[in-house]
Amino acid sequence: MSAKKLDQINDHLTANIDKYVKELGNAVGIKSVSGDPQYRDETRRMVAEYGKNELERLGATVELRELGTEPGTNPPLQLPPVILAQLGNDPAKKTVCIYGHLDVQPAEKSDGWNTEPFVLTEIDGKMYGRGSTDDKGPVLAWFNVIEAYQKLNLDIPINIKFCFEGMEESGSVGLEELVMSEKDKFFKDVDFTCISDNYWLGQKTPCVTYGLRGISYFLVEVKCAKQDLHSGVHGGVVHEAMTDLCHIFNSLVSSDGSIKIDHMNDDVKPLTPEEEATYEPIDFDTEVYKQELGVTQLAHNSKAKVLQHRWRFPSLSIHGVEGAFYGAGAKTVIPHNVIGKFSIRLVPNMDPNKVLKLVQDYIAKVHAATGSPNTVSVTSIHGAPAWVGDFNDVNFTAGRNAVKRVFGREADLTREGGSIPITLTFEEATGKSVMLLPIGSSDDAAHSQNEKLNRSNFLNGMKVLAAYFEEIANLSKK
Ligand code: BES
Ligand code: ZN
Repeated sequence: MSAKKLDQINDHLTANIDKYVKELGNAVGIKSVSGDPQYRDETRRMVAEYGKNELERLGATVELRELGTEPGTNPPLQLPPVILAQLGNDPAKKTVCIYGHLDVQPAEKSDGWNTEPFVLTEIDGKMYGRGSTDDKGPVLAWFNVIEAYQKLNLDIPINIKFCFEGMEESGSVGLEELVMSEKDKFFKDVDFTCISDNYWLGQKTPCVTYGLRGISYFLVEVKCAKQDLHSGVHGGVVHEAMTDLCHIFNSLVSSDGSIKIDHMNDDVKPLTPEEEATYEPIDFDTEVYKQELGVTQLAHNSKAKVLQHRWRFPSLSIHGVEGAFYGAGAKTVIPHNVIGKFSIRLVPNMDPNKVLKLVQDYIAKVHAATGSPNTVSVTSIHGAPAWVGDFNDVNFTAGRNAVKRVFGREADLTREGGSIPITLTFEEATGKSVMLLPIGSSDDAAHSQNEKLNRSNFLNGMKVLAAYFEEIANLSKK
């Protein structure tokens, strides 16, 4: 019965793919860069107009929830609203909560893009554009599947509650409070949550994902003088802020990736033989991975070790320095105030508050040992704990069956090194299973130059999402 229904849907999706690609182009064209105040209006428009209109077109009841202003902004910057929407309210059906984000990372052609980042451009079946895979493509995939059911006059076999935001790339500011406050209201009757906002582990094998690392993002501010100084005039007698910051940076992590901060690994769970065995069946080739990244050597040699260090061990990355000279040419300046930025990916058991304290104590110790009189302050701008779900839940059975229906093969069970801050909150607020069901490929280059989504992944991804609806509906009959 549902096999015939899915054939019909798949045919419809295939027949309309050009239309969906065009629509993805419209979404990519909106510069919803949440992290850049200059684009905050566009981010708001992406959620409050584009997202809302699309959901209303599909017949959903849509509410926009305002979150006020972004803490720490001066002048105060209004946050984009969150969409809470509902489609279907049949007590005989299961209710699935779908989360996605409509904001994107920054992108400029001058960063090294081959095409305009906010103009979706298809070359050889690859659709290049900021947000194509992270996360506008997957969000539109949900819309297209629902539209397909409706155009074909087919019954959507589940109730859907949508939660879409516009601040995910900036730490999902304000969303946790909203979700928790709606725990016994909007989210009350949710049976399962599904998020499509990650990627396959490789380019060929689809997967369902049961874990994410968390993240704590840090600012280290060093001040040395009241304004920038001429290095020829004052160099040699001033304790320089950049020198102190470089010393701190250098003390954080070794070249092989091991974190040097005291006690940072104390809470990391030891590997058990059972866990060790889960890496073996996964389709992952370290040579292909190296090629995708364009690196000659990795910090770990075996497949299992590489995956473990991406998924279940913490990592520390240094991102940049505000206030330092970075333009072309030579500027002989001593910057007087610099802000170093780094983050630590957290794994289960690591508490963001405890991590902040360890980082602050360690940096204070390292800096004190230099004897520099400069002031150093360490703050955290966002923190999200790691999430690991139970892949034995029937939500995962539905996801895996859906993949099997479309690809005729088993999905790999993966975790991810990236973070989606709200994931754990959904699990806590609903008390039900959360699953990640990615549609993009490992080489999509989210956050990077030339981000893309393959046309084939977009189409097959939509087929998987439709099959997931049917699989969830089948569960209720058991
Ligand atoms: N889509 C990603 C999450 C992701 C990344 C999943 C890599 C799997 C692998 C999401 O949009 C993202 O980039 N999140 C940020 C969150 C942060 C700003 C709090 C991240 O991981 O850096
Ligand atoms: Zn992202």
